[in-house]
Amino acid sequence: MRPTYPSVVDLLTKKTTDTPVFCLYPQRIRTAVQEFRHGFSGEVMYAVKANPDPQVVGWVIEGGVTSFDTASLPEIALLRGILPSGRCSYNHPIKPRASITTAYRDFGIRDFVVDHPAELDKVLDCAGRDVVIEVRVAAPNTKAKVSFNEKFGAEPGAAAELMRQIAVRGATPALTMHIGWQTTDPEAFAAAVRVLAAVAEDAAVPPEYVNVGGGFPSLLMPPGQKLQNYFDAIDGAHSDSPSLAGAPLRCEPGSALVTLGGGVLTQVLLIKEGAIYLNDGIYGALGELIHSKFQPPTEVYTPSGGRRTAAARQFRVFGPTCDAADVSPVPFSLPGDVAEGDWLYLGSMGAYSMPLITDFNGLGAHEFVIIDG
Ligand SMILES: Cc1ncc(COP(=O)(O)O)c(C=O)c1O
Repeated sequence: MRPTYPSVVDLLTKKTTDTPVFCLYPQRIRTAVQEFRHGFSGEVMYAVKANPDPQVVGWVIEGGVTSFDTASLPEIALLRGILPSGRCSYNHPIKPRASITTAYRDFGIRDFVVDHPAELDKVLDCAGRDVVIEVRVAAPNTKAKVSFNEKFGAEPGAAAELMRQIAVRGATPALTMHIGWQTTDPEAFAAAVRVLAAVAEDAAVPPEYVNVGGGFPSLLMPPGQKLQNYFDAIDGAHSDSPSLAGAPLRCEPGSALVTLGGGVLTQVLLIKEGAIYLNDGIYGALGELIHSKFQPPTEVYTPSGGRRTAAARQFRVFGPTCDAADVSPVPFSLPGDVAEGDWLYLGSMGAYSMPLITDFNGLGAHEFVIIDG
């Protein structure tokens, strides 16, 4: 059982160890899930990779999502253990043959993703024809913080041919994309949906559904934007595309459901000449910084829970391991009176942080607590 505290300050006043703490916020996760369920006009699946912690998955389910984007057999098995009636799609574009067989035969998976004819052969060799096979389309997008198109995604012409092949060979085609992590422009989603519509038109085969993937902003949501603007842009492009008529929408957010649901408390080990050394770093719970290149919302506390508020100074931020690469790619702006023994609270760390904690240098220990004020 993880201990529960009403606030980070309350936790600090009771803390007896110097171990970094991963704080989880159930209500924030339930709220984010509900925003998607009420605002997105289609099925919402949770991309489990963002945070596969069973309690986190449980809060996503309490928020009302019961289908999941899973990327591996262990993720599928995890979900089956938590919610046997939940629906899992095996949405990794490149899968081991044995995993496809087990997913189909033992776990009853009927949704797979491909982005190449060789992967289509694998899926059709290892699974029956009663499957929906999503073709992952490379949808160009300059507004993502991390592009996924170099690793995955078929060009539109190749994607149309894949759709035809799926239909000819007796399975059911669908369409999907991942527009890239933290895509900040709603119009980029609309443009990508129009690319999918062009693929469906070229293929002359109707997709069973249109899965717009993840990529919704959370950490990097621009001021003045809100999720509903992204939902409306997707909905508009979908409704305006005759080739997608009758193909319902799906999405599979990870970050946007859980980012706000996590935060990290890390202690200052040393300060020297404009550099600060923390007891957590990129091999621990701060790996996300490598991608975001962004200082998370930060509060600084004295060991007894008082708040530091002096004028800000810039610091280079190093993690605790011996590796020189264990450094934040961006400097942090911190109160100038920050001192050894203080605690930095870094918010919006709920996605892709917990699952990436390693024990490199023997420094992987974290406490996990729930903040439910
Ligand atoms: C296939 C797929 N779907 C969804 C996601 C979740 O993306 P995000 O965290 O940007 O919402 C990912 C992330 O890698 C993914 O690979």
